[in-house]
Amino acid sequence: MSIAKPLPHDAARLHVTGAARYVDDIPTPAGTLHLAFGTSPVAAGRIRAMNLEKVKSAPGVVGVLTADDLPGDCDVSPSAHDEPLLADGRVHYAGQPLFLVIATSHLAARCAAREACVQIAEETPILSIEEALAANARFEEGPRVWQKGNAEAALAQAKRCLSGSIFMGGQEHFYLEGQAALALPQEGGDMVVYASTQHPTEIQHKVAHALGRPMHAVRVETRRMGGGFGGKESQGNALAVACAVAASLTGKPCKMRYDRDDDMIITGKRHDFRIDYDAAFDDAGRITALDVKHYTRCGWAQDLSLPVADRAMLHTDNAYHLSDVRITSHRLRTNMQSATAFRGFGGPQGMLGIERIMDHIAQELGRDPLEVRRANYYADRTGESIAATSDPSPAANPSQDSATRGASGARPADVPAPPEGAQTTPYHQPVTDCVIGALTDRLTETSDYHARRQRIAAWNAAQPILKRGIALTPVKFGISFTLTHLNQAGALVHVYQDGSIHLNHGGTEMGQGLFQKVAQVAASRFGVPLDNVKITATDTGKVPNTSATAASSGSDLNGMAVQKACDEIRRRIEEHLGERYQTRDIVFADGMVRVGGEEISFAQAATSAYENRISLSATGFYKTPDIEWDRIAGKGRPFFYFAYGAACTEVVIDTLTGENRILRADILHDAGASLNPAIDIGQIEGGYVQGAGWLTTEELVWDDKGVLKTHAPSTYKIPACSDRPDVFNVALWDQPNPAQTIYRSKAVGEPPFMLGISAFMALSDAVAACGPRWGDLQAPATAEAVLAAVERARA
Ligand code: MTE
Ligand code: MOS
Repeated sequence: MSIAKPLPHDAARLHVTGAARYVDDIPTPAGTLHLAFGTSPVAAGRIRAMNLEKVKSAPGVVGVLTADDLPGDCDVSPSAHDEPLLADGRVHYAGQPLFLVIATSHLAARCAAREACVQIAEETPILSIEEALAANARFEEGPRVWQKGNAEAALAQAKRCLSGSIFMGGQEHFYLEGQAALALPQEGGDMVVYASTQHPTEIQHKVAHALGRPMHAVRVETRRMGGGFGGKESQGNALAVACAVAASLTGKPCKMRYDRDDDMIITGKRHDFRIDYDAAFDDAGRITALDVKHYTRCGWAQDLSLPVADRAMLHTDNAYHLSDVRITSHRLRTNMQSATAFRGFGGPQGMLGIERIMDHIAQELGRDPLEVRRANYYADRTGESIAATSDPSPAANPSQDSATRGASGARPADVPAPPEGAQTTPYHQPVTDCVIGALTDRLTETSDYHARRQRIAAWNAAQPILKRGIALTPVKFGISFTLTHLNQAGALVHVYQDGSIHLNHGGTEMGQGLFQKVAQVAASRFGVPLDNVKITATDTGKVPNTSATAASSGSDLNGMAVQKACDEIRRRIEEHLGERYQTRDIVFADGMVRVGGEEISFAQAATSAYENRISLSATGFYKTPDIEWDRIAGKGRPFFYFAYGAACTEVVIDTLTGENRILRADILHDAGASLNPAIDIGQIEGGYVQGAGWLTTEELVWDDKGVLKTHAPSTYKIPACSDRPDVFNVALWDQPNPAQTIYRSKAVGEPPFMLGISAFMALSDAVAACGPRWGDLQAPATAEAVLAAVERARA
């Protein structure tokens, strides 16, 4: 069995030797043309005139397109049809594409794009949260409000209350491979597109629409991305549509990739948020009522902002049970890049809000913040509810599993009703799988939290300049797309007559190890070594109508779909061999098939099936059961289950400069019964460091005209190798998922990102050690922000 083995990423060797092929590495046919956008220098206004003569006559230029030259409806929005490929009269942000240059080389296209003379009647851009509120610039009629209980009444009666506000910045994805696409025109006007995208079906859909053709005329292929992190869910649409339109007009292959500065200036980032709160609490620090307001800058177009803002609301509680709570979310339209998906998809922002509230309450009561957190935790699931949700694992009994579950993806009605009186989230979903208490117990012990907190206090008392801080924070993250219909996946599996297996599914590989995990599933279903399984590029011609590889659900959804396809083929082989050998005793293991008393190789079994005209190809389909969600009412069961984790971080700050370092991080994370512990630990380490980067060094700065000033690694600081904690202990909780997922594993892509919040809280703890007040650290905690907080703490 290759399940649960710590195997390396299937392309690890290719990645580190530079042999892995990305879109820009695909050999292109002679005559391939290259594209670049000319972009708006101003954030808001009306285009008066565009003089493109010098662009057209620049060396290597073959053509220049403006909105008027586009053949059809070239909208590139993933949601609201509000993103014309090229500005059509108005500009909405500094960096918006105005025209498209087609040239004989990448450099020629980029150089020519600078030669434009554009006149824009500038208008006052809406940039800040306050400006957007004043102008009532929003993406929904008004704020979205969800509630449970009566927070207002509970707050009015409370003995102890506090209020506060935290701002948290956005984040640039900084995938190492920038956005890229290549379109190859085919006979009859068809198009093949290679794209660096998390969402090949969306690219297919947008390209087909732009070309005025049915979806069957467009095929999209994605072998891998050099990182996506949410930034390639929708932001690749513009490049793919531009390439397809240019290819269709010129009849030549067209390729486009953004230079790093263009990538940062043109594409959307993580949403920044301000969160205001009023909380009532008791003497133990337990929250008795909470009123939270989210203000988020969505940028100029809708993109994925509504579901992102929803997910922020859905993580207002994090791991804490709230009885009376009201959550208000303002989705504000601003003249900036259109903020988009980014690992956690709003969850991190919602969670940081309540984590700040926990610290604030602890400060107010003079208690250990961990104690306050624990006082608010959801109750762990009981032995009884574990038993109620456990059923024979498909890992333990694969044959029975395929026999009883059928091919439709429907699940027998074995989902137990939530235990009477189960605690519910603010959106009324019962929490029945909680392990955060036990997980925190273990991490508190292994990280030596209590003793270290004391040692740090003693150290701080003796140190005039440097101060240390420590924090242990939990994560509870909901798994499923909140748009319920996206929770589906397909797979296509072929077994060739020599027993080798060709595997395809709707998920995309962005470094997260999805392909390896899914290949492990396929190998296990046939009982063959992993080398028997060929991992192939994602292809809309093989598996149609896919969802973005997102919401961490890649292996949950595609793993199940692949299992179903494999099991269907295995069933046919079993049926054939059963008849041939007159036995029901058939076992697939170690590359062999045991049939009654005899043993043949898997290859022989495949050959035999082929020669007896048995189909060795099957599709598989899966849909997540038991979820339903009303996003307007804020009620339902949006999540199939929750993933849990906790991190303990120790930091040190220099109170003269604000400079700071992470000294040690201890993490315990729940990946269920891990499909591949090596890959999961990699996801946890990377997620933590990326989350800590968001809240420390990564700062986006727009000037007062709305121009992004931080658009290269010279001014925008992602964590380097040297920024990872000196001591970094990562362990898996490693208990099977009570929900019926693929081999009882749990999604692991996004949840660990939010473990990085512990680094921010540790910094905040170090700041609080500086003075009588606690400093109210804002995010990101750059050296400047830490210094300012130290000064506030001392005031
Ligand atoms: N890990 C790597 N190396 N590169 C990535 O781009 N994206 C993250 C996460 N881990 C990402 C990553 C995001 S935003 C998501 S939603 C998940 O991977 C998607 O993959 P999965 O659903 O297969 O976990
Ligand atoms: Mo991840 S933000 O869901 O692509």
